[in-house]
Amino acid sequence: MSKPSLADAIAETLFSREQIDAKIAELSTTIEDDYRDKNPLVIGILSGCYPFMADLTRALDIQLEVDFMACSSYEGTTKSSGVVRILKDLNTSIENRHVLIVEDIIDTGLTLKYLVENLQTRHPASIEICTLLDKHEARSENVQVRYRGFVCPNKFVVGYGLDYDGHFRNLPYIGVLKPEVYSS
Ligand code: IMP
Repeated sequence: MSKPSLADAIAETLFSREQIDAKIAELSTTIEDDYRDKNPLVIGILSGCYPFMADLTRALDIQLEVDFMACSSYEGTTKSSGVVRILKDLNTSIENRHVLIVEDIIDTGLTLKYLVENLQTRHPASIEICTLLDKHEARSENVQVRYRGFVCPNKFVVGYGLDYDGHFRNLPYIGVLKPEVYSS
């Protein structure tokens, strides 16, 4: 009998590892040009950002610093609760710093709208957003995204940091779960 695999739960691959790597190479060229000599503070939004943050920052051949925030609006479901809570704040002051927020996916935009408004009160020199996936059909909030990887269909996706109820973050590519995974 063959070993059970994470891939058994995936109905469809949306973005392969090769597509993700190529997109990161493309994004990093633009970001390098924009941030050279600015020593940006790159802020990853945990937990979903972790593979993208690691791969993107390693692709950036410029001086930068990293920090992380965690917030939650989903809590074990596939729909946003509409309430954003900061679970972990920054370790660093962002006053007069060029801030680049790194996010795995923007869906309604609620999380980033809240975060950008919160960070603006701390007087950074600039704030921009880099997201790997943009589900722009699902957007209800007005959020300016400077760097966008892929436009994502309005489906619940997992892998490359994105989870369903805490699982599938370690799938190395991005896919859609089989419907029976939600009902089990
Ligand atoms: P928003 O506040 O609705 O824009 O949601 C942003 C957050 O929701 C992301 O950082 C993800 O953690 C989570 N999220 C949104 N869509 C998906 C999805 O399709 N799969 C997994 N997580 C998602």
